[in-house]
Amino acid sequence: MRIHPPSQKSPLELALEQARASYGTKNPNSFKAFKDAATSLPGGGTRSSIFIHPFPLFIARGEGVEIEDLDGHVYKDFVSDFTSGIYGKTDPVLKKAIVDALDNGLQLGAHTTAESRLASQLCARFPSIELVRFANSGTEANILAISAALHYTRRKKVVVFTGGYHGSVLSHFGEHEGGDLKVPYDFLVCPYNDISATEDRIERHKAEIGCIIVEPMIGAGGCIPGDPEFLRGLRRISTEIGAVLVFDEVQTARLGTGGRQKILNILPDMTTLGKFFGGGFAFGAFGGKKEIMSMFDARSPCAISHGGTFNNSPLTMIAGCTAIEHLLTEEKLGALNKLGDEMRDRLNEVFEKEDLPLRITGLGSINQFHAHASLNDAKPTSKPTSNSSPSPDLMRSILDLLFFSLLDRGYWIAQRGLISLNFAMLENDVRGFEEAVLNSAREIKRAL
Ligand SMILES: Cc1ncc(COP(=O)(O)O)c(C=O)c1O
Repeated sequence: MRIHPPSQKSPLELALEQARASYGTKNPNSFKAFKDAATSLPGGGTRSSIFIHPFPLFIARGEGVEIEDLDGHVYKDFVSDFTSGIYGKTDPVLKKAIVDALDNGLQLGAHTTAESRLASQLCARFPSIELVRFANSGTEANILAISAALHYTRRKKVVVFTGGYHGSVLSHFGEHEGGDLKVPYDFLVCPYNDISATEDRIERHKAEIGCIIVEPMIGAGGCIPGDPEFLRGLRRISTEIGAVLVFDEVQTARLGTGGRQKILNILPDMTTLGKFFGGGFAFGAFGGKKEIMSMFDARSPCAISHGGTFNNSPLTMIAGCTAIEHLLTEEKLGALNKLGDEMRDRLNEVFEKEDLPLRITGLGSINQFHAHASLNDAKPTSKPTSNSSPSPDLMRSILDLLFFSLLDRGYWIAQRGLISLNFAMLENDVRGFEEAVLNSAREIKRAL
């Protein structure tokens, strides 16, 4: 990497400036839509994770693996709605089930058999779920699971991990300028994948800790797989101190039919789910041991009340059941995750061989690019914030350039570097994507 005097722009900065200018020129309709949107929505949108600097693309439609923006550009979608869009844009089985369900009416406002069907399917899949309840998002499911765990243990503290994301008001990415909104639980933040430091921190507070919540793979925080020994350690500690262990499998549930807990054979006390189990609609679920979940049994005079107008929305229930029965099969999930594992291995191999400034981490079909500016000691790593990582600004610029460069090649990824695969993709789509990523990485290397 060359060092440039502060006054002089580096080739990387120049390349990025050029990429942003060209993006602006190519997307006048999106820019106009953004300006209009910003008059009623702060920042022109209502979901911070999909914002794009300098302005977001507005997508008009999607079909199969493709999306089309307001300016008529078509992209292959490697975001898959941040893992929830696992079915592609227009799965015919799902579409038929949803259209048929519409004929039976919306908003029935009562129990339906679709809801117990979905519940029994989830109980059958997830080893830790004996009873389950539904909510409207992963965020809500996690708030309910944590609150239930604290109520059950009559304790106050919640152990979470650095880099963890459990929802819009439950993120632990560390300090940043704007800060985050947080549900005011009494959090104890511990280092992910470091069981001895975690144990030390917990020891001092063990009588107050009612809940330990963890993602089996850090997702939004960078696709960092949880070390199985770390996750087993959390299981042991939770049992020893009498806290409820919650696995947030909102993303990792798609790694297999019973999530990562089934793959690793680790049984949490509670599990939270969301995203794709709503078959394309807003969904969340929290479930676990009978003795905990029975607190919600409305037959009991001292039951916890848990409302939610859309908890059992018939469309969501039917779409969810259809997805589980026909789409989220062991065979299809296995094939998709294999596609992702092979893609990651092939990409990292070339990144290393050619000293390219990127690495990719993840599991199966859920992955994240990381900038890697040290071109000598490059290794794929499960801890991408090690010494071999560049400064945050450089990292941001490398990922931004990757994003714009892939757009030019017809591929849509999250600007922060997340990609996830979906069922509409064929092996050829993934191979084409790999080639585009490698060509983009070579371009970025030349600009460093
Ligand atoms: C691990 C994890 N938990 C919880 C959530 C929150 O889910 P939702 O966006 O449905 O509120 C997410 C969303 O990305 C997630 O990745």
